[in-house]
Amino acid sequence: MTLVLGIETTCDETAAAIVERRSDGERRIRANRIRSQVAEHARFGGVVPEIAARAHVEVLDRMIAEAMDEAGIGFGDLDAIAAAAGPGLIGGVMVGLTTAKALALGLGRPLLAVNHLEAHALTPRLVDDVHFPYLLLLASGGHTQLVAVREVGRYTRLGTTIDDAIGEAFDKVAKMLSLGFPGGPAVERAARDGDPERFALPRPMLGKPDPDFSLSGLKTAVRLTAESVEPLTATDIADLCASFQAAVVDCVIDRTRVAIRAFRREIGTPSALVVAGGVGANRAIRQALQRSATEAGLRLVVPPPALCTDNGAMIAWAGIERLDRGLVDGLDVAARPRWPLDAARAQPGARA
Ligand code: KG4
Ligand code: ZN
Repeated sequence: MTLVLGIETTCDETAAAIVERRSDGERRIRANRIRSQVAEHARFGGVVPEIAARAHVEVLDRMIAEAMDEAGIGFGDLDAIAAAAGPGLIGGVMVGLTTAKALALGLGRPLLAVNHLEAHALTPRLVDDVHFPYLLLLASGGHTQLVAVREVGRYTRLGTTIDDAIGEAFDKVAKMLSLGFPGGPAVERAARDGDPERFALPRPMLGKPDPDFSLSGLKTAVRLTAESVEPLTATDIADLCASFQAAVVDCVIDRTRVAIRAFRREIGTPSALVVAGGVGANRAIRQALQRSATEAGLRLVVPPPALCTDNGAMIAWAGIERLDRGLVDGLDVAARPRWPLDAARAQPGARA
């Protein structure tokens, strides 16, 4: 049996989790504690790095203790300590990584410095028997990438967004329409009663040969449409949200279809299409991806929402995957604000 503690502090959630992998291969999340800082940042309209780092320092020790209690284990039972070492807000990353180093040193156990994006990418293997290679759509507030996951540590980025992330576009549209934060769930709720065909919004990049995304033109079109209709009634808002979501869905379907073709050409046959990141919670997007997967003869794997959004279990699980392969880190490993999954294809200045 392998027991690993996972620590996540790269953005505005402090998380500590214990994941167990038994000798027969069964995985179990023994504890998955998470504390969001949304309230601390709300009045600034975004995440303030210094406030985030301080909030992580204040609660991390207690959250680790709670996770250990919930799992009913002692520190001596741990086989390794994993922490997200980036990409993310450097102050917060240092809090989590330094804590993990101290525990690893004190307990004489290996340290695993996990890439936060790799943890999202490997989460489907925590909840499902997904084999390599598979196609990952990683869509959150900070990232939108289509990635071929070939093995632990071997990723080929097939496409990325050239401007906003999908979750970021949902958040900005929600802000424009005064629907609150986080915007994704609010826009999805408003869209439920709306007419997706009332407003003709652009579908950026549709039909382009590379599976990249662009969301900023669509976001601007929503703003201009809203301004032309003002004052907005509840029906206008619902119709605008539905039209926006329909445009995003069309882009996701088209870009994913192109990525599946690129995967087959460059890598081989994917074992599944998997989704990670908060946007994976959107029902319209999930249903669209199910259609794309079925059409391509692929299985769709979407982890439950609590494992799609940032959490400690995904860090612990990525730690176990790395430990299995002897990919342990020295205590001198550095926290990294930027850390692309596929260094070869990362553009200078691109987000993570
Ligand atoms: O993965 P996540 O929790 O955090 C990071 O960004 O790393 O993703 C949060 C993002 C936010 O932008 C949020 O608006 C979006 O995921 N999101 C959604 C939905 N739920 C969360 N977007 C669309 N529809 C949703 N139901
Ligand atoms: Zn994340």
